[in-house]
Amino acid sequence: MQKLSDWYDHPEYYEAIFGTDTAKELDFLLEVGRRYGTGGKQLLEPACGAGRLVAEAARRGYPVVGYDISEKMLAHARRRLTPAQRRRVSLHEARMETFHRPELEGKVDLAFNLVSTFRYLDSEQAALAHLESTRRLLRPEGLYVLGFHLTDYGRKKPEHERWVEKLGKDTVVCNTHEGLPDSRLRRSEMRNRLRITGPGKDLLIETHWYFRTYDLAQTRRLFRRAGLEVRAIYDFDYQVDVPRKRGEVRLDSIFVLRPVKNAA
Ligand SMILES: C[S@@+](CC[C@H](N)C(=O)[O-])C[C@H]1O[C@@H](n2cnc3c(N)ncnc32)[C@H](O)[C@@H]1O
Repeated sequence: MQKLSDWYDHPEYYEAIFGTDTAKELDFLLEVGRRYGTGGKQLLEPACGAGRLVAEAARRGYPVVGYDISEKMLAHARRRLTPAQRRRVSLHEARMETFHRPELEGKVDLAFNLVSTFRYLDSEQAALAHLESTRRLLRPEGLYVLGFHLTDYGRKKPEHERWVEKLGKDTVVCNTHEGLPDSRLRRSEMRNRLRITGPGKDLLIETHWYFRTYDLAQTRRLFRRAGLEVRAIYDFDYQVDVPRKRGEVRLDSIFVLRPVKNAA
């Protein structure tokens, strides 16, 4: 078995697991844009990774700006685009904490950031900087749709998720482990193992990192500070007709955010 580290250096295996619901996720995002936002076309994906949603949106005729910290993920995103899609897409190597394009200010109809990526921002300052700068790129009625798992600080056991997918003749098994949250440091230790087996192939890609933790009250406080109001909350099942009811508690959360009028 060959051992490697950092799943984002191996976009094809990352996407074999996380790319299976792309069309459904984009259907959901576009419908949310029509119901709560402008319904307009300019899209932005912070931390767009290997570009599965960017490519799907461009395929449907939407202009999309995407950016990511990983050059390898971006290279994969560029490779997958057809010439027609490439004309609608602009990709940048940049960080969520500092991304800015003056030409985008006040022009974005719908920004989105799913699968807990927001939790990579490792401090309140970094999270706030990201939310405020994204808000400034939105039109007044534009939306930022942010999906991530909230933390149950009372949890007594580590969490574990397992997925299996085929990639050509290979089998990709993904195990993600989240340790107990540290409520003082506001973080959980994360570990992902991707095992890829197939003809002449046996790979283990192991990745370690920390995710910042948020309960609902911490999340709402942060959004308020960033000048964003919550228009609706959904679960990770992407059913646009089933927003979460007031008082209903679930950890997997997709927040539909809109700039507060006259926010600084
Ligand atoms: C879970 S993937 C999500 C990719 C894509 N949004 C998707 O839904 O498939 C997380 C991505 O966040 C990127 N990332 C992590 N920290 C980042 C940061 N501070 N700024 C920009 N990108 C970051 C990683 O390189 C990776 O591509």
